[in-house]
Amino acid sequence: MKILGTGSAVPKFTVTNDMLSDYVETSDEWITTRTGIKSRQIITTERFEEMAALAGQRAIDAAGLVPEDIDFIICHNVCNCYVTPSLAALVQHHLGITGPNCPTMDLNSACAGFVYGLDICDAFITTSRAKRILYICAEEVTRMVDWTQRETCVLFGDAAGAMVLGEGDGYLASKLTSTPMPDVIYYRLPCEPTPFETGEGIDTHMAMQLKGREVFRMAVSSAQRDIKDVVEKAGLRLEDIDHYLLHQANQRIIDAIKQNFDLPPERFHSNIHKRGNTSSASIPVLLDEEIREGRIHRGELMVFNGFGAGFVTSAAVVRY
Ligand code: ACO
Repeated sequence: MKILGTGSAVPKFTVTNDMLSDYVETSDEWITTRTGIKSRQIITTERFEEMAALAGQRAIDAAGLVPEDIDFIICHNVCNCYVTPSLAALVQHHLGITGPNCPTMDLNSACAGFVYGLDICDAFITTSRAKRILYICAEEVTRMVDWTQRETCVLFGDAAGAMVLGEGDGYLASKLTSTPMPDVIYYRLPCEPTPFETGEGIDTHMAMQLKGREVFRMAVSSAQRDIKDVVEKAGLRLEDIDHYLLHQANQRIIDAIKQNFDLPPERFHSNIHKRGNTSSASIPVLLDEEIREGRIHRGELMVFNGFGAGFVTSAAVVRY
């Protein structure tokens, strides 16, 4: 499998840390020193599925293709207003791909999902069940948090990152893990009531809850393990990798991981200062921005590494 082109899209409305202090008791100083985030983009008037489709169209353009060339659309998404149809089916509609020979499907492996989806795409491409997959990670995490809870609402942004994947030898190794820890990060939506439920013991709605310090510790230790393992699996050394793109959850997490490796610090890329934590979209958006700004080039080696609710982790070695 090979990346043929990348694209991304973010909402037009940028929210600075100072703007957040109008809603919750916080400050630019606290958010900057604890997270590295200065601003983030938040969905206001645009439609989520159109943002996802826009990222997809940009990836198709970058690959030098047209929407009709796509024969599978896979989206990764933790949550959006449509439970059904899938986001991938909505994207197909917005891109004007009439079908029926372009199947669509959604995946959800929380903030670590980007590499989970890459693995699925690789399985379809290497077995010749798809030739050109449009793969989009799109998230509107700002709709999952309680905007009176300063511990969570300052952390997130909305975004979509996309790529077209085709045949090639760019997917060198991957590693996926899952450890059952459902209370470390979770978000529960209410379902429709039935006349038979008693309501007892049913905790229907909880805006995003997270044990920040626990996530922090687990992220740093899992990244150290997964990055070493996946690079070894690819038959490479850490110093052979040109670029490290980690899930953008907190600049302090990225810095702590960086300190555990004796590598030039500029190999660890970051855009969290301007995007916030965009969950599964964070790595593909960062990748697209770094490619477009000329910091990542064809033929170079990259490591992707993520972690998220579950507790799930993922890593991959990819040649661009
Ligand atoms: N503004 C001002 N003060 C705040 C804010 C805020 N936005 N949020 C919390 N505080 C206060 C707390 O109330 C607490 O006050 P106290 O000392 O009087 O009790 C103090 O700041 C310290 O709070 P901590 O939660 O201990 O702060 P910490 O340094 O751990 O940073 C953070 C919190 C940023 C969430 C960090 O733990 C973190 O990044 N964790 C991991 C990442 C994470 O969970 N990301 C979320 C999504 S998960 C994912 O992407 C997979």
